[in-house]
Amino acid sequence: MIRTVLVVAGLGFGLTAVMAQSNPIAERQQAMKAIGGATREGAAMAKGDVPFDAAKAQGVFKTYAASAKTFGGLFPESSKTGGDTTASPKIWEDQAGFKAALAKFEADAQAGAAVTDLAGFRTAFGAATKNCGTCHEVYRIKK
Ligand code: HEC
Repeated sequence: MIRTVLVVAGLGFGLTAVMAQSNPIAERQQAMKAIGGATREGAAMAKGDVPFDAAKAQGVFKTYAASAKTFGGLFPESSKTGGDTTASPKIWEDQAGFKAALAKFEADAQAGAAVTDLAGFRTAFGAATKNCGTCHEVYRIKK
């Protein structure tokens, strides 16, 4: 079961990589939109607005981890400007820092991938979502 999910996810990454060549800006914004959607779902569960559901909770982190994995490859030199990107030039000036911020987000997401209860979910969700603001603060421009 888990193996099937991984294989399917792997195929998804391949497709994303191909599409990325045509429009990396739209592609990375799409990845962030998926992350944003998962975050809304997770926040509702963390607050108790919707009942805790282990599969859904794990799904939030899976979306994070999968999106984080492709995201770093969607910043070719040619995509510094254009579209309505809010990517900061800092991403290209400080690639090591950006990659590290992304790697931390991915690691925190993976840490939550096996949550089974609400308390564990809240802790892992809190840790993973700290990365949003930390990264945006430095690597995203305000428009
Ligand atoms: C490692 C850095 C990093 C992390 C971590 C990160 N983001 Fe982002 N995010 C970005 C960058 C860079 C952009 C701008 C992409 C662009 O416009 O090209 C962005 C854009 C977005 C957008 C706008 C997408 C659009 O429609 O243009 C949303 C929503 C978003 N992030 C949500 C989140 C949330 C929620 C989290 C945490 C769960 C998160 N991000 C974590 C770097 C990050």
